Amino acid sequence: MIKVAPSILAADMLHLYDEIQKVVSAGCDLLHVDVMDGHFVPNLSYGPDMVRGIHAAFPELKLDVHLMMDHPEEYIQRFAQGAWNITVHEEIEADLSELLDRIHECGVHTGISLKPATPVSRVVPLLSQADMILIMTVEPGFGGQSFQREMLGKLRELRRIGYQGLLEADGGLTLNNLPDLKQAGLDVAVMGTAIYRSEHPADDIRRIHSL
Ligand code: DX5
Ligand code: ZN
Repeated sequence: MIKVAPSILAADMLHLYDEIQKVVSAGCDLLHVDVMDGHFVPNLSYGPDMVRGIHAAFPELKLDVHLMMDHPEEYIQRFAQGAWNITVHEEIEADLSELLDRIHECGVHTGISLKPATPVSRVVPLLSQADMILIMTVEPGFGGQSFQREMLGKLRELRRIGYQGLLEADGGLTLNNLPDLKQAGLDVAVMGTAIYRSEHPADDIRRIHSL
């Protein structure tokens, strides 16, 4: 069953509590928190206090924290206060193996994300340390972009080489492209626009769970 992780990047920030309550009531499985530092991506979003605050208000909700940051190593302990998963990008300079170990030492699941231009081969040495691989299906930084179909090949390649962890995709996901993503091996769907602009999010999530 595909798990649904709404991205609050598409939520109304001025009514965030209600926007989170809406997707929780609609049956989401995780909540995706897109953290942006204005360097790794040309956008700024929120910091560790936001994650801690959401966790305090929704302690049962699994927070899937996506760090689009050049130096996440400086923030791991702070994001770990509330995160269920912390995903870092393969493209950063830090020692990824050491970083993933540190995230695990905080009792948090690990994820590695690949930008569209980054090949799967770059993440193969780290697969044993990654509880989840996040395949960006758009260029990171902004919601509401179009799904890049050619990224389906990365999911298939990871399954072909025997990766047993969770496969997640992020960017332009809709009910129309999810069947192909599921067939390629998807486990977790990050959905911002498709869920937050839906008239019937609970129906949509039920349809996704039944794919
Ligand atoms: C890009 C963001 C978006 C967002 C989901 O950095 O990570 O992919 O979460 O965007 P949409 O609105 O396309 O579902
Ligand atoms: Zn994301």
